[in-house]
Amino acid sequence: MMSVTRLRTLVLAQKVLSRPIMPVFASRFYSSRPVEPVAQTRSKVSIKTIQTMYRRKEAISMMTAQDYPSGLVVDKAGIDICLVGDSLAMVTLGYDSTNPLTVEDMLHHCRAVARGCKSPFVIADLPYGSYEASPDDAVRVSLRFMKEGNCDAVKLEGGIEMAETIHRISRIGIPVIGHIGLTPQRQSALGGFRVQGKTAKQATALLRDALAVQEAGAFAIVIEAVPEEIAGYITQKLKVPTIGIGAGVQCSGQVLVQNDALGLFDKFVPKFTKQYCNLNQIIVNALKEYHQDVKSRQFPAPQNTYPIDPIQLEKFYAQEREKNGVRDQEEERAAHAM
Ligand code: KIV
Repeated sequence: MMSVTRLRTLVLAQKVLSRPIMPVFASRFYSSRPVEPVAQTRSKVSIKTIQTMYRRKEAISMMTAQDYPSGLVVDKAGIDICLVGDSLAMVTLGYDSTNPLTVEDMLHHCRAVARGCKSPFVIADLPYGSYEASPDDAVRVSLRFMKEGNCDAVKLEGGIEMAETIHRISRIGIPVIGHIGLTPQRQSALGGFRVQGKTAKQATALLRDALAVQEAGAFAIVIEAVPEEIAGYITQKLKVPTIGIGAGVQCSGQVLVQNDALGLFDKFVPKFTKQYCNLNQIIVNALKEYHQDVKSRQFPAPQNTYPIDPIQLEKFYAQEREKNGVRDQEEERAAHAM
């Protein structure tokens, strides 16, 4: 309990500073404080910006994000395009493939990313099973991603067989990016997550797919896990940018899965990933330290706790003493009466 002298000193100090205690409390950070909308810090990347970069042969940067904080950092880092890739099914939700992801799951993640990622061009991956059955399905689901997911474009996997679908979506004013080579949603038919285009026959089929996807109206094409020479050749033959992942430096731009690039996902690291840091290790070390701090009562420290006006505290203690005194007397009386 606080001594009267200490209490007086505190009250005096407060008077000298002529600063009321409560506003000081009010300016402290509360973890429950609502998140303020993120301001746009640079001009918005549009489809025109992407076309200009392509014309100028400026490499285009794309990075995935799956939630609000990962969207925020993509924006802060100055990256051109943010892909809400369905790889989030594996790296964030712990599925073995991308296929279990639903449209509702994906919309939820897209909205979170879009809240943090203001300047990059934001693309939503259409989930497996939501667009393949018919172009009508694809148009309907793409509209949902534009309207409810707050995205700027959609991505879908497949080559020539998806041309009609790409044509229908882009014709109604929704930008579409294609995805050829290793198409993870079809990993079952491909016999796993395998490099594509390794034979002359496969490479010819890839080129045919790329041309068909471009012809159908895609504004760009992701090429995944394809030998560099083949991806480079396809890039030269196209009039729209290619975005490579495991497809070499000759593509018009590059994309990586953020969790892989930051070393957050250590279950499996694809050969084509460059790990720019090892956040997994940093986080585990930090959590170990926290665990120890809790056990040793080093945390929370005084600076992590909320103060109370000493006058109010003393009043509270006095009330308690009074209450307890009355209760003690009543208990004593009750014991005597027995
Ligand atoms: O889902 C994803 O993250 C992707 C990239 C690998 C291109 O499609």
